[in-house]
Amino acid sequence: MFKIAQRMSDVSPSATLKLTSKAKAMKAKGLPVISFGAGEPDFDTPAAVKEEAVRALQAGFTKYTPTSGIPELREAVCRKFEEDQGLKYTPENVVISCGAKHSIYNLIQVLCDPQDEVLFSSPYWVSYPEMVYLAGGKPVAIETTQKEGFRLTAEKLKSVLTPRSKILILNSPSNPTGGILEEKDLASLAEVILKHNLICISDEIYEYYIYKGLKHSSIAALSDELKKRTFVVNGTSKSYSMTGLRVGYLAGDAEVVKKIGILQDHSTSNPVSISQRMAVAALKLPKSYRAQVREIFEKRSHLMQGLVAKAKGFVPFEAQGAFYVFCDIARTGFDSESLCDRLLEEVNVAAIPGKSFGSDKHVRFSFACGEKDIEEGIQRVIGWTQKNVK
Ligand SMILES: Cc1ncc(COP(=O)(O)O)c(C=O)c1O
Repeated sequence: MFKIAQRMSDVSPSATLKLTSKAKAMKAKGLPVISFGAGEPDFDTPAAVKEEAVRALQAGFTKYTPTSGIPELREAVCRKFEEDQGLKYTPENVVISCGAKHSIYNLIQVLCDPQDEVLFSSPYWVSYPEMVYLAGGKPVAIETTQKEGFRLTAEKLKSVLTPRSKILILNSPSNPTGGILEEKDLASLAEVILKHNLICISDEIYEYYIYKGLKHSSIAALSDELKKRTFVVNGTSKSYSMTGLRVGYLAGDAEVVKKIGILQDHSTSNPVSISQRMAVAALKLPKSYRAQVREIFEKRSHLMQGLVAKAKGFVPFEAQGAFYVFCDIARTGFDSESLCDRLLEEVNVAAIPGKSFGSDKHVRFSFACGEKDIEEGIQRVIGWTQKNVK
């Protein structure tokens, strides 16, 4: 009936959210659905964080706050970066937004002109290309393979550069692959970033979910020069099971941060006041809390990988981080959407088709759920492949 604005024409709905809602609706109808779709931890938000919400509510902390975030949260974010990565920022370098998704969206809106190229490795998080389309820019996906550990190399990055290449998004640990970029990988990418004056957005939302004794590294911590060209994005959704509370943040160049504040002034205004107080409480939690969660997830990653490998035609990538098993399904003969549709319809197991992440030959299983569900759900998948894969 209405003519939709041109800038929405290339934008697709989020496949992750679509499939997760379908699985939830089937469950509500009483079907025994096991969902490996969710990108959110299954554990409860920590008690200390919830108690802070109650205190804030009772104190009437329900009014507008400064658009870029309350000073105590911006300061807490500075402390976090210094403690975790030795990165020194002041509150002028930090802006609080409504989730890390919003932080990345804002950065692209503020930095990307029509036709500017925004680069990222493929498979990629579903929202990167769509955010670039929304800014009128050109997304450039750089293919990486499972055999190469899904690692973006300097050679691959160089091979796609043009005079319009402006921003490189890095996501380590990665959604959907579970791969990481180690310090040596980042160092070789850094040379290209500096030589070609690229701006780097480092999406580190899964930083605490890292396995196999590996260590999270931020490209911003490699040198002062790199820090100046990098915006580090993070948030409380994944680390503290606060997905619905919508708090994300970024740190970087103060001038860009100020512009993001102006963008928020005229769009969302401040992130929810109570959520910001909860985020301050979350950032104060002891390191032991995160270590405990990490350990549980590492155990689940082994369990899920071991089981998925038994499904006929499935070749899982061994997750190094995040909470996903990304699995090559080429040998099954199915494309990713048909496979996921059939798994949901026939054995009530929800997984996300790789097509929405840039690879139709993969399926993503989230292990942010209990061990019982992993065992039962993947057994159903194994049974299904025995009947349906030649
Ligand atoms: C790679 C990546 N970045 C950013 C986000 C955004 O997280 P939030 O907006 O909940 O902070 C997600 C969530 O799924 C993600 O997987």
